[in-house]
Amino acid sequence: MTNSFAGDLLAWFDKHGRKDLPWQQDTSPYRVWLSEIMLQQTQVSTVVPYFRRFTERYTNVRQLAGAPLDAVLHLWTGLGYYARARNLHKTARIVTDEHGGRFPASVEALSALPGIGRSTAGAIVAIAHGQRAVILDGNVKRVLSRYHAVEGWPGRAPIAARLWQHADQHTPASRIADYSQAIMDLGATLCTRSKPRCEECPLQTACQASQQGNPLDFPGKKPGKNLPVRSSMFLVMSNPAGEVLLTQRPATGLWGGLWTFPQCDPEADIARACAQAGCHALEWYMDPPRRHSFSHYHLDYTPVRIRVEPHSRVGETSGIWYNPRKPATLGLPAPVAALLAERAGSATPELD
Ligand code: ADE
Ligand code: SF4
Repeated sequence: MTNSFAGDLLAWFDKHGRKDLPWQQDTSPYRVWLSEIMLQQTQVSTVVPYFRRFTERYTNVRQLAGAPLDAVLHLWTGLGYYARARNLHKTARIVTDEHGGRFPASVEALSALPGIGRSTAGAIVAIAHGQRAVILDGNVKRVLSRYHAVEGWPGRAPIAARLWQHADQHTPASRIADYSQAIMDLGATLCTRSKPRCEECPLQTACQASQQGNPLDFPGKKPGKNLPVRSSMFLVMSNPAGEVLLTQRPATGLWGGLWTFPQCDPEADIARACAQAGCHALEWYMDPPRRHSFSHYHLDYTPVRIRVEPHSRVGETSGIWYNPRKPATLGLPAPVAALLAERAGSATPELD
């Protein structure tokens, strides 16, 4: 089988990839290791002058090992994430003292060194030794999670495992150094976090996120508190026939074109909100709030079960009276569908 992913990527790299970065000249393990550590959390343009100063001051791993930690930290000033510099120094001493000044050549042995994870180890093996190895740094995670539309946060082990599998499956046997550089460059320059340039991307025709039009949904965000929370009341209004009022969302935007309960702010007056939807509220009961999570925020919604007397005709409310026991073929957001299904299953159609 032809590996068109790697082939297309390499053809792009030959035309557009960066080949004149300082660590691409003389790809010794020492220089590749140093550049990969610096590039872990810092972008290329910032790293270049630091890399130059470092390699001028310390030409090889023995010299770095012999330097006082303070001198190394001083040279690192401004790059940030100083644990990287401390680990760099530790690793230089281990390589010098325990490996005779030569970097190990396997992913396993490299990953045992301070500050070198599985992906950095792979990059060193691929770029410095030219041996097939798989990489999955932040750039590659972004490219692959989009290309395969892998949902979920890559910080979770099962998601990371899937991405490693995809990374392995795309990694070619030949031109491994160029391939590794190419996929990282693609993530750094075209498949960027907030403005991917899919029209220029060599992977576009098979990229699932690009086909779906939602590259920004990948990679999935860390679930939890960092997402903002919005609150809303879902007005579940039922008429004497046991039907429930649904209104259609505008065609664009969140839940575009789907049918939902009329909503109001938590502070709003329930009776007044019902009146705006063309109904007279007779009595209501508030359920406990529930949470629905979007990629960019949590929606905490409180279902309010309301018995109403319609005072407008349906045409005037821009809604429909929906019978939960005879589901129609309407587009319904998941939380709305769930609430309707609960009503269909309940013994009495009104307030229970
Ligand atoms: N990020 C980590 N390693 C990189 C590399 N070799 N080139 C570009 N970005 C990177
Ligand atoms: Fe990224 Fe777009 Fe290329 Fe897909 S097509 S890999 S989303 S730049």
